[in-house]
Amino acid sequence: MIEVSHIAKIYHSDTRETYAIGDASFTVAKGEFVSIVGPSGCGKSTLLNMVASFMAPSSGTISVNGHRVVPGQIPKGLGYIFQKDTVLPWFTVARNIGLGLKFRGVPEPEIQGKVDRLLAMAGLKDCHDMFPHHLSGGMRQRVALLMTLACDPDILLLDEPFGALDSNTKMVLHKELLDIWQQLGQTIMMVTHDLDEAVTLSDRVIVLSAPPSRVVLDHRVDIARPRDVFSLRQSREFSDHVREIWGVLGREFKQVGKEALEHA
Ligand SMILES: Nc1ncnc2c1ncn2[C@@H]1O[C@H](COP(=O)(O)OP(=O)(O)OP(=O)(O)O)[C@@H](O)[C@H]1O
Ligand SMILES: [Mg+2]
Repeated sequence: MIEVSHIAKIYHSDTRETYAIGDASFTVAKGEFVSIVGPSGCGKSTLLNMVASFMAPSSGTISVNGHRVVPGQIPKGLGYIFQKDTVLPWFTVARNIGLGLKFRGVPEPEIQGKVDRLLAMAGLKDCHDMFPHHLSGGMRQRVALLMTLACDPDILLLDEPFGALDSNTKMVLHKELLDIWQQLGQTIMMVTHDLDEAVTLSDRVIVLSAPPSRVVLDHRVDIARPRDVFSLRQSREFSDHVREIWGVLGREFKQVGKEALEHA
């Protein structure tokens, strides 16, 4: 479904060149849940932005559903949840969720029906007319997810969707995301800083190195599904997967830390 082939990305500015991605290649199969982890600044958000066509790679190619991604032409059926909160503060929850459908010219009664169904699914029926600043962080994040799901994406790109939440709220949202994914079968590419989260949710975890990054590990998480996100963390197999990935990821964090100290 997603094919990233020998991607490199260098950012040029007046004063410097930033070598974000060196040479990254991997694929994500249809219906697969793949997480990308790696040190801060290794180009994880950049990678998602290139898959979404928001920017061009310096070299290499990306294909989505068999079509080469052309900068500025968002691949069909793609939904994106950004690293920063994208819920609009001046609209109610219901209007936020219906926004994408409105842009597409979907008739209002149809939008209303869909928004109501989504709110019921996420247990947010009572929030229909509330404004985002009245919601908790977890609720806002649910609304952001519903905004994206409203347009029925086949592919979901998630950039640290639960990054700002406490670990209990995160786990509840993990369960909700897995339930939705199991029901609808989207292809998911998720960036996260949280290795426990990556192992809990994913079929595969891809580790990027310190920049200019490359893929240093492509690890299959063969834990049976459906997974109980709450008890999973106590299991031996869960900690075995985390340890194995951390063996590689930890080295990359260390490398970035060492370079930061050398430049201080
Ligand atoms: N528009 C831009 N112009 C110049 N440099 C950029 C731009 N966007 C990102 N960079 C640089 O490219 C590198 C990769 O950035 P990116 O945001 O993709 O990293 P990341 O892996 O998502 O980091 P984090 O984990 O902190 O979110 C960083 O060094 C960043 O400063
Ligand atoms: Mg990022």
